[in-house]
Amino acid sequence: MNAIRNPLAIELGNLTQFEYLALNSPLNLSDGHARQELTPNQARIIEELPSLWTDAVKRPVSEVEADALSAFFGLLGQHHYPIAEGRVLSCYSSSVAMEIFARSLAGVSGSIGLVHPTFDNIPDILRGVGLKLVPIEEDALHGGDLDPELLRGVGAIFITTPNNPTGRVVSRERLRRLADECAQHDVVLALDTCFRGFDTDAHYDHYAVLEASGCRWVVIEDTGKLWPTLELKIGWLVSAAHVGLPLAKVYSDILLGVSPLVMSMVRRFCEDAAEGGLAELHEFIAGNRAMLRTTLANVPGVEFLDPFSRTSVERIGIGSRSNLAVWSALREHNVFALPCQKFYWNNPDKGEGILRIALARPPSALAAGAAALRAVLSEA
Ligand SMILES: Cc1ncc(COP(=O)(O)O)c(C=O)c1O
Repeated sequence: MNAIRNPLAIELGNLTQFEYLALNSPLNLSDGHARQELTPNQARIIEELPSLWTDAVKRPVSEVEADALSAFFGLLGQHHYPIAEGRVLSCYSSSVAMEIFARSLAGVSGSIGLVHPTFDNIPDILRGVGLKLVPIEEDALHGGDLDPELLRGVGAIFITTPNNPTGRVVSRERLRRLADECAQHDVVLALDTCFRGFDTDAHYDHYAVLEASGCRWVVIEDTGKLWPTLELKIGWLVSAAHVGLPLAKVYSDILLGVSPLVMSMVRRFCEDAAEGGLAELHEFIAGNRAMLRTTLANVPGVEFLDPFSRTSVERIGIGSRSNLAVWSALREHNVFALPCQKFYWNNPDKGEGILRIALARPPSALAAGAAALRAVLSEA
């Protein structure tokens, strides 16, 4: 029997398989995609789609793309993003950008250092192209220099910042030092910044730091976690001029480009965000996080593991209770959370006793899910 159909089976499915199970439930607190309601301003942008279509048909794709890039990177403080031809590749999603990066790296190197824990489709994609993964524990990553032995043995290091699920952000000073270390060892520094929109600590200009370091670097940006755009999103694969990886060739093996309609829609969401929508989103997520924490307050053994996280997911320590027992009991209430074992791709046991709850949801759904979670945890 499939491990997902029988949740008590020892072999767990991957996180996305758990997320599939939740897709049709109104109490889906599982995936990290944005599923809150549109704000009134955003709803007006959706009403504009026919005119955005008409406009996109008339204009050169490169112009539509340049406008989307400048709106997105400007919104998030990334003013030194590269504008030269081929330096920013637009993909249907960040996973497609990841696949392109992974395939490009696999042609020139056999191994990569990867932050631990992180979202499991990252290690799965990297392993899928045959790369050997070397874990970089999050505390070690933030604590000081990386092990030179590790840097000598890998072609790249890959860091998710803000990280999913912990929300930890690599500071400007830490990024500068990591980039120097990578330059010294001629290792590619790859960043997944898919969740950066949620945390202003991740809005310092990463591209200024990376360009100044002289290291070979790649960044994967994402519009998909911020706004409830029904999976219409862009993953951007951004790279150093001298990155030394065949990114453009592998890109051309996979796609021609992203829809100009999606690019125009993303531009409009960015413009609205710059005019106050982003601050509103930050307040919305903070409000949902506070509501979840209040609902679960004083349940014995429950801990909020990432007190400073501002991303749209929250890790909950559930003490000695089993993840899958709680997951199954929640499912009885039609509520879906995510058990965290698979985030710990090198040591799944470390994710036992931890659930991840998605916060980019309508407050009413989160409140119902949180109440069910409180009831389940109070019984267990
Ligand atoms: C950190 C991170 N990067 C990339 C992805 C992949 O995003 P997508 O499914 O939109 O390709 C995810 C998915 O949740 C993620 O958490």
